[in-house]
Amino acid sequence: MIPVYQPFLGGREKEYVNQCLDSTWISSRGEFIPRFENEFARYIGAAHATTVSNGTVALHLAMAALGLGPGDEVIVPTLTYVASVNTIMQTGAKVVYAESHADTWNISVEDVRRRITPHTKAIMIVHLYGLACDMDGLVALCRAHNVLLIEDCAEAFGSLYKGRHIGTFGDVATFSFFGNKTITTGEGGMVVCKSRFVHERACHLKSQGVSKTREYWHDELAFNYRMTNICAAIGLAQLERADEILALKRQIAGWYHQTLEGLPLRMHAEQPGTRHSYWMCSVLLDDPSRRQALRDQLKSQGIETRPLFAPAHTMPHCKTNEDFPIAQDLSARGMNLPSYPTLSREQVVHVADAIRRFFAD
Ligand SMILES: Cc1ncc(COP(=O)(O)O)c(C=O)c1O
Repeated sequence: MIPVYQPFLGGREKEYVNQCLDSTWISSRGEFIPRFENEFARYIGAAHATTVSNGTVALHLAMAALGLGPGDEVIVPTLTYVASVNTIMQTGAKVVYAESHADTWNISVEDVRRRITPHTKAIMIVHLYGLACDMDGLVALCRAHNVLLIEDCAEAFGSLYKGRHIGTFGDVATFSFFGNKTITTGEGGMVVCKSRFVHERACHLKSQGVSKTREYWHDELAFNYRMTNICAAIGLAQLERADEILALKRQIAGWYHQTLEGLPLRMHAEQPGTRHSYWMCSVLLDDPSRRQALRDQLKSQGIETRPLFAPAHTMPHCKTNEDFPIAQDLSARGMNLPSYPTLSREQVVHVADAIRRFFAD
């Protein structure tokens, strides 16, 4: 079986986790929390970073720290993982969907421009599958309309835009460290903030709104979104190998590029001025009607794949009657291939051969 993903745990994860166990610091206090936060902020070049228990609550906390709520509109691409949309709804703000760009699969700046109203408080962008959005266009748009920029970087650790790590452009940015992410803590996330004030709001809200000076005194409605020291220990060990993991994934994407050449599909392409981190090696089939048959045939040969996300505006709890032809088309034609860092060249060739045989039949 060749899975779509499996974590790369080849570093000091076990050693650091054992330190947590030996010291009994297994809960959400302990040395690995600040070490992971500081090293993460340093790695991506961010001012402030705070750990949380997953990438979904990272988004919710980010929006709570920015003060978003009922009466506000937040623009988000419909082609995203559902957590981006759910967390907007959970703040009480209104979800305003935006169309995707056909080449990048990311949010279309032109479409966002059309959807801005006097109620628009924020734009949540999502760097899908490891490719940075058009940050020049989005930052300029947010400045011109005085709206907040939230970067959902769950899928894009290691992705650059004009040499700068994504997550450093917006007012806040969030990361996920779920087991299938480029660096993982099992379950985990990070909230990255530009301003100290927003960072302190996020730290306060993630920890039950507890007073810094008075014990068991909670001064507002808040959450427990903390990460454990054990997860942070794994995260720190992962971060130490981040360059290596990213290099392996880039090599795998290169092998797919070579071996899939000439087939009726195209890979998610790195754009000028970006460095794709290839969280997933994703392809678009020319003919969407063949996708399920291809996936079934690969599965019968022990090769796991995943479809692209279904557009959120088609799901029951967050449905609208709008039409987003580009997002819908991408969603129908796209699929993710096995993309984990230790995938060998032989395995990539095996996957590519299986795809080639499917199209030859
Ligand atoms: C774009 C996006 N946002 C948010 C999340 C949520 O992260 P988590 O699964 O850690 O809650 C994911 C997870 O895959 C994601 O892909």
